[in-house]
Amino acid sequence: MRIRRAEFDADCADLLRQDGDLHSSDPIPWEHHATWVARNAEGELVGIAACREDRSDPTGIFLSTCFVAPAARGHGLQKRLIRARIRWARKQGYLWVWSYTAAFSVASMRSLIACGLRPSRRRAVPGYVCWELPLCSKT
Ligand SMILES: CC(C)(COP(=O)(O)OP(=O)(O)OC[C@H]1O[C@@H](n2cnc3c(N)ncnc32)[C@H](O)[C@@H]1OP(=O)(O)O)[C@@H](O)C(=O)NCCC(=O)NCCS
Repeated sequence: MRIRRAEFDADCADLLRQDGDLHSSDPIPWEHHATWVARNAEGELVGIAACREDRSDPTGIFLSTCFVAPAARGHGLQKRLIRARIRWARKQGYLWVWSYTAAFSVASMRSLIACGLRPSRRRAVPGYVCWELPLCSKT
């Protein structure tokens, strides 16, 4: 499995559509995000993740999207995609990352916790659980 930075393209949109859900709750265009893709040994797109600067605090990064193709799930790919974005945010000089999950998204919550995120003190999104990681800590 290979993960790399890449522009959001038609293949990415197709992958997200596999689940019938484009995760469009975030109205900010894809061009304003940094995106990562994961491809398997055959070169097929099996994962996509994105993040963008926090809207109200330019020292922070919001982990906005993560999708793993059904056939590639259960092998820790989500955690690798979270770590890739955290490494990038740290290198860019951002001070913290945050995200939110539905309370039933057990896989996502486990992945975020495994990558060092903890329940957020600075962010609240009604109906969701917010998570954050200060980037002075190691992951
Ligand atoms: C959520 C998603 C990204 C997880 O990707 P993944 O690479 O398969 O994640 P993993 O299989 O490594 O699972 C992560 C953790 O959740 C656990 N897990 C997976 N499915 C689970 C379930 N149904 N119930 C409980 N735990 C589960 C795994 O055991 C793993 O825990 P661990 O790190 O303690 O071993 C993937 O299922 C997906 O794309 N779903 C649809 C889109 C979505 O929900 N995106 C996230 C929006 S917040």
